[in-house]
Amino acid sequence: MSRILLLGGTTEAAALALALADAGRDAVYSYAGAVASPRAQPLPVRTGGFGGAGGMVRWCRDHRVAAIIDATHPFAAQISRNACQAAQVLGLPLLALERAAWQPQPGDHWIRVADMAAAARALIGDRVFLAIGRGELAAFQGLSQHLLLRLVDPPETPPLPGAEWVVARGPFRMQDDLALLRDHRITCVVSKNSGGSGAYAKIAAARALRLPVVMVDRPAIPRREVAETPEQAMGWIARHVPSDAKRGV
Ligand SMILES: NC(=O)c1ccc[n+]([C@@H]2O[C@H](COP(=O)([O-])OP(=O)(O)OC[C@H]3O[C@@H](n4cnc5c(N)ncnc54)[C@H](OP(=O)(O)O)[C@@H]3O)[C@@H](O)[C@H]2O)c1
Repeated sequence: MSRILLLGGTTEAAALALALADAGRDAVYSYAGAVASPRAQPLPVRTGGFGGAGGMVRWCRDHRVAAIIDATHPFAAQISRNACQAAQVLGLPLLALERAAWQPQPGDHWIRVADMAAAARALIGDRVFLAIGRGELAAFQGLSQHLLLRLVDPPETPPLPGAEWVVARGPFRMQDDLALLRDHRITCVVSKNSGGSGAYAKIAAARALRLPVVMVDRPAIPRREVAETPEQAMGWIARHVPSDAKRGV
């Protein structure tokens, strides 16, 4: 039994999926199903929630999973907590593949906050680029500032009353984000401290324009082993998951 459950939805998960496929490992890539047309993966894919930690336990039992790799986004806290619980219940090895958080650089003006509610209270100026996806917009409802959202999929209904939005999928480039901030006369950027390079352009662009960034810190997740790169994760897998079986669900 050597099947790996890879919880994905990130650039790192895609890179690890490629490495696992290249190595001929038996692994299943799991998507939440939040994005309309997710990237194709070189592994068998399952899509949709498991039904909480208990559902993940059942799925892992039914599919004879030997290890869980949590390569979800650092702000996807619920699935990560569920993975910790499921691994504990089943006695399975668990690794988080989690990019390092961004650190402020010279010239950055960051206002660090613990969550979205605090971010909504910390805005500066009257034109805000809310680069946080669409999951946690409720905290910004009813504000007087002009809000610009960036969404992966075109929304069917306005995601936040009164807000403007652009549709774009990363990775983003510095010159494009510079133009976006200028064109929309943005006075302040709100960002999650996601880490990695794909979403960093807005941070570098804000620095270039001397704009403040309201930086939301990562949510708390139970302690688990962490790898910062797909290469480190492959090393962990070689040590913790015997390689034997055929691929597939
Ligand atoms: N949050 C972000 O900023 C962000 C940014 C980029 C990408 N993503 C990706 O988008 C997905 C959803 O993020 P989120 O913040 O909504 O997560 P979340 O709040 O931690 O998860 C909510 C629920 O969605 C299901 N779920 C989440 N990720 C899943 C996965 N990879 N496979 C199967 N089910 C999953 C689980 O449902 P059940 O309890 O029913 O199992 C989970 O309880 C994640 O895969 C994440 O990597 C998130």
